[in-house]
Amino acid sequence: MNPTKKIKIITVVGARPNFMKAAPIIAAIREHNERLAISPGLEGAADSHFSVQNVLVHTGQHYDEAMSDRFFSDLNIPKPDVHLGVGSGSHAAQTAEVMKRFEEVLLRERPNLLIVVGDVNSTLGCALVTAKISFDANGTRPLIAHVEAGLRSNDRGMPEEINRILTDHVADLLFVTEESGLQNLREEGIPDAKVHFVGNTMIDSLLAFKDKADSSDILDRLRLRNRNGANGSAGGTARYALLTLHRPSNVDQRETFLNILEGLEELSNTCPVIFPAHPRTQKKLAEFGLERFFGTENGNHADGRIRLVEPLGYLDFLCLMGHAAVVVTDSGGIQEETTCLGVPCVTVRENTERPVTVKVGTNVLAGTSKEGIRQATRQQLTSKVSGGVPEAWDGRSAQRILDVICREIQKKQSL
Ligand code: UD1
Repeated sequence: MNPTKKIKIITVVGARPNFMKAAPIIAAIREHNERLAISPGLEGAADSHFSVQNVLVHTGQHYDEAMSDRFFSDLNIPKPDVHLGVGSGSHAAQTAEVMKRFEEVLLRERPNLLIVVGDVNSTLGCALVTAKISFDANGTRPLIAHVEAGLRSNDRGMPEEINRILTDHVADLLFVTEESGLQNLREEGIPDAKVHFVGNTMIDSLLAFKDKADSSDILDRLRLRNRNGANGSAGGTARYALLTLHRPSNVDQRETFLNILEGLEELSNTCPVIFPAHPRTQKKLAEFGLERFFGTENGNHADGRIRLVEPLGYLDFLCLMGHAAVVVTDSGGIQEETTCLGVPCVTVRENTERPVTVKVGTNVLAGTSKEGIRQATRQQLTSKVSGGVPEAWDGRSAQRILDVICREIQKKQSL
């Protein structure tokens, strides 16, 4: 046994929803190396005797302080080793730029394995490059691990659905978060041997940071604390709703966006609706002249308008989610986080690639019609919502992933 034997991994992050999925894996690698350094002889299976070098690559798909940097500090993610600085662009331009710049990194670093997470353009771009790279005359290339594999909305009009399908079909190790993922991959002919049901690394982050998030002062900053609690004690939390919208299919057409906002009017007349708006959404609502629905960050709720605030960091958002009466969203990840927190969620979409959140969790699909949104929010606010936590969403997914990775690399090297 040689405890100093090293394997090299590249982990890629690019856009906001990647950061909370990758953070626990990066932490698991660090802890693995620390354990190995302290007691190399005490590690269990032979495959754990690798020390793991992780090269963190940020594509720069998201680049603002609010969309990127803040998440690194909130989630204790180390500074990226490589920043590709890709930025915004059309799907083709952005993906192409990721591919061009990532290929150089891959050829220079020659890792044993690539980890990509989620379904954004950076995920697909880096997976595709790796599938076609060749380090030598034998066609040696890194293994490709896809974290959050197998999810399907069955709506190919969503750019993310294309990214999911293509990434899964070039991946060697597919890490699945929920039962539906196993079924989808089987139906698409992916061999079972490549597929590993490990749970959800985004929930690892949530469980790791929930206590810290609870001490965020965001409720005070947004004046969501009652002066007197229900029993007259100080510091109760006001009843409020939390809203996020950014899907191109919801905000890029004026008619659809307007419809959704009208569907939310009843809710905003009932309680404050806090809306941390994504840059795409902010741009669109100004372009479409929809400002009449919104009050500003410091405005008060008296006029029943939605309170527009800047995009929030991970800890502030987690705190707001945890105390909300209802969360209305078109995000994928938020459907899962509210499920884990037991907070009622209304998803403003016709479909979800995360059906476990509806089956087991607290999520309902509202569609995008005015009436659908009204009814779903009313239902979620008035009836008692109960839900459970899906299988293996237990905070240990990243460790399971790392165990499989070490084992598979060992297997490959001993061939
Ligand atoms: C991307 C992901 C989506 C994910 C979302 C979370 C794809 C196909 N989509 O969509 O799955 O849910 O991130 O946010 O990868 N912008 C800024 N600052 C930034 C980043 C973006 O202002 O830091 C603006 C730019 O004007 C850009 C627009 O937001 O054109 C959209 O960004 P982009 O990365 O293209 O897609 P998202 O809508 O963020």
